[in-house]
This record gives sequence, structure tokens and C-alpha cells, in this order.
Amino acid sequence: MASSSSALPRDICAIDFGTSNSAVAVPDAAGTGAMRLVPLEGEYTTMPTAVFYLAEGRHDADGPPRAFGRAAMAAYEEGTDGRLMRSMKSILGSSLIDQVTDVGGGRGVKYADMLAGYLKYLRRRAALGGVEPRRVVLGRPVYFVDEDPARDAAAQASLAAAARAVGFEDVQFQFEPIAAAFDYEQQATREQRVLVADIGGGTSDFSLVRVGPERVKRLDRRDDILANHGVHIAGTDFDRHIELAGILREFGYRAMGPAKAGQPPREVPSGIYFDLATWHLINTCYSPQRVMELRNMRPFYGDARHHQRLMTVLEDRLGHELAHRAEDAKIAVSGGGGCNIDLGLIESGLNVDLSEETAVGALQSDIERIAAAGRETVAMAGLTPADVDALYFTGGSTGFRLLAERIAADYPGALQVRGDRFASVATGLGLHASRLFAR
Ligand SMILES: Nc1ncnc2c1ncn2[C@@H]1O[C@H](COP(=O)(O)OP(=O)(O)OP(=O)(O)O)[C@@H](O)[C@H]1O
Ligand SMILES: [Mg+2]
Repeated sequence: MASSSSALPRDICAIDFGTSNSAVAVPDAAGTGAMRLVPLEGEYTTMPTAVFYLAEGRHDADGPPRAFGRAAMAAYEEGTDGRLMRSMKSILGSSLIDQVTDVGGGRGVKYADMLAGYLKYLRRRAALGGVEPRRVVLGRPVYFVDEDPARDAAAQASLAAAARAVGFEDVQFQFEPIAAAFDYEQQATREQRVLVADIGGGTSDFSLVRVGPERVKRLDRRDDILANHGVHIAGTDFDRHIELAGILREFGYRAMGPAKAGQPPREVPSGIYFDLATWHLINTCYSPQRVMELRNMRPFYGDARHHQRLMTVLEDRLGHELAHRAEDAKIAVSGGGGCNIDLGLIESGLNVDLSEETAVGALQSDIERIAAAGRETVAMAGLTPADVDALYFTGGSTGFRLLAERIAADYPGALQVRGDRFASVATGLGLHASRLFAR
């Protein structure tokens, strides 16, 4: 990965703490001066940012019994009794971070501690020769929170506090798309301006960076970072919009109430559907008070089946399952075409066809806003699309064909390069850590 002539200290690491997936880089054990990605679960060097709290089992020194990553997803999918937490990064910068949430079995855990527990798992996996790292470069999106510098700063401070709480003494940050540019730079044979598009689960980040074989030798790269910008719209928003347009209509989203004499029918209140389609809010839908209120809302529904299905989701706690199906459907249509979504777990025989047209319609405005953020990045550097030599795509959501094509259409003269969608940022953060912490 990195090549540097000097040996690296052994107590350093880099963490790409993603909304959906995380990865960690550490110095190569052979002492070559390069960084490598750490196997986090078996041989896998990336791992879902997920924690599953088991309803049963004893607390240990680290807290309630838990599983991480793929094991967390598997426990959840197998129907193990417990609670799955995902999208923890989305909580940074919100008031939820200091709140306690019920993780089943009558136990409460603070979101901040949940996040720290996940970082602790990563830190243990990063231990070289049994020594856990003390210094870390953490990636961060360009904006944790859009257009709110105070909350954005609070988000970074919370992430830094969680890192310190698990034993990192020196905590540094680097922007995720700049890290991806450093990864791209390893293959750049001449100086060029690259626009990095890192479209992940929570954020779509762009950086316009000057890269090249001569540039890479400089430690201070501030002059090469021409612009940095992003929006808080990415894969989890796609999931939400697919779920609303493709699935939740069968549950009453945007359905009409019963016709009453002399009054036009009214739309069913939609708040519950937005929360059900948002990973980190799903659990708030199950509070006994909310379930009771919704049970009493039967008269607002023109079609009793919609209400019945909604109540089944709430009473059987199937919200995460629906969100999961929406994500699977999104990935199924990401290369083009439509798919069928089986909802038999809610009601025997229920299924919906998700056409490419519906999917594209649901995501159109997200896609346009992401592409606009790319153009804004170039404008912020005082440049035009013709000044962009290369486009570097990374992040899981660049697997969405239409999205990548839409972004590329704005830069007809640029070379298009696809990075490792899930590892580029961690690789680049590792390069940055190796330069920053080099002896
Ligand atoms: N083939 C695919 N097509 C479209 N989207 C995909 C595909 N594969 C994965 N995704 C989506 O990619 C997203 C995860 O990407 P990634 O791992 O880069 O995000 P992240 O780094 O965790 O998030 P962020 O950087 O925003 O914090 C998820 O929303 C996932 O559904
Ligand atoms: Mg990412």
C-alpha cells in the first residue's frame, strides 16, 4: 500500500468508521514502512458498522453481550432475540448521542457507549503483536451535519471522545474523500486534478485534489486540496426513498382516508412511515405509547388492510426487516431493471414489483443533488468541469450505475476511474497516518 523508506511506529492505525461499513489500516508487520488493511472478521478487511445486543447472556467487563459486524447481521437475520444497531455514525451531531436506548431484556445503553464499544472492537483487531494502537487517524465526512457548523463540530468531538474512551491517546482526523484521493494518487503517473466522488451510506463527499508522482513527496498537501464539499444524502437515503415508494405504500403511506359525507378524503398521516424507513429511528416506532396511538388511528385509513399491515410491522417489530428488504431491492436494481420484493412475512402472499422506473423516480432528486454537489465542488475551486482531468469513484453507492453515469455526464473530458468501493478510504487514511506519524 504505502511505500516509505522509514520504518513506522507500531502503535499507529487508521480507521474508516463508515455509516454502513468500516475498515482499519495498520503498519505492515514486516516493517516495510507500508500500511495494510486488517482482517476484521475472518479474512474480511471490511465489516458492517453494526452491533447486535443479545437479549440473553451475561454482562462482561465490556458491557452487555454483543456481536459485531457480519456476526451482528447474522444474529439479526437468524431471528436471535435482541436488538440490531446500525447507522451509528448518523447519530453523531444529534441529541440522540447522549440518550439511552433500550437494547432489549430491560437493558439500556447510551448511544455514545455503543459507538465506543464498536471502536473498541476495531482497536483490538488492530493490535500488532498484542500492542493496541495509541495513535489514530479517523476519517470524517466533509460535513457530518449539513449547514450547521456547531453540530458538525459536536459530531467530530463526540467521535474523538469515543476514540479516547477506548484508549486512543492521539486522535487525528482526515476528510474521507481526501483519503480516497491519496489512494488514487498511487496510480497517477502524471500530475492531474482528480475529482473524488465518495458516495457511501450516509454522505456523498467530493474533493478536488491535485495529485501526481511529484506531489506525493510533499508532507504538507494543503495547496493541493483545491476544494472539499459534500451533502448528507447517500445510500441510506436511497434505501429510505425506495422503501417509501416501493414498499410502504402497501402499508398506507400516501394512502387516502375514508370518504366522509361533505368532506374531501384526507391523506393518512405520514410521520410513522418516515421514521419506519429511517434505520436509526425504527426503534422509536415501537414505544408502547406510539403503538397504542397508531392502533387507534384505524379510522384514518380508507383501506383497512393498510392499517392491519402497519400494525403487524409494529407489533412484530419488523421495521428493520423492511428496511433490509428495501436495501436489497436497491442493490438488485442498481445495475438496471426491476425486481420483486417478497413481503410474505407481513401477510401471506404479499409482494410488490419494484420497477426500474419507480426506483429511478424515487431517487431522481437525490441523484441530482449529489451531482450538483460535485459541480459545486469544482466551482468552489474557481474551476470549470473542463479542468477536471480524472474522476475517481469510490464508496458502495457508486455501484448504482445511473448515479455514476449522471455524475460522469458533467465531466465529458475526464478519465473515469473506479477505486475499490469499500477499501479506498481506509487505504488512503492509512497512507495519511503513515506520513503523519512517521518517526
Ligand atoms: N451494488 C450496489 N449498488 C448500489 N449501492 C450499493 C451497492 N452495494 C452497496 N451499496 C450501498 O453502499 C452503501 C455503503 O457504502 P460504503 O460502505 O462506502 O458506505 P460507508 O463508508 O459506510 O458510509 P459513509 O462513508 O457515508 O459514512 C450502502 O448504502 C449500500 O446499500
Ligand atoms: Mg465511506
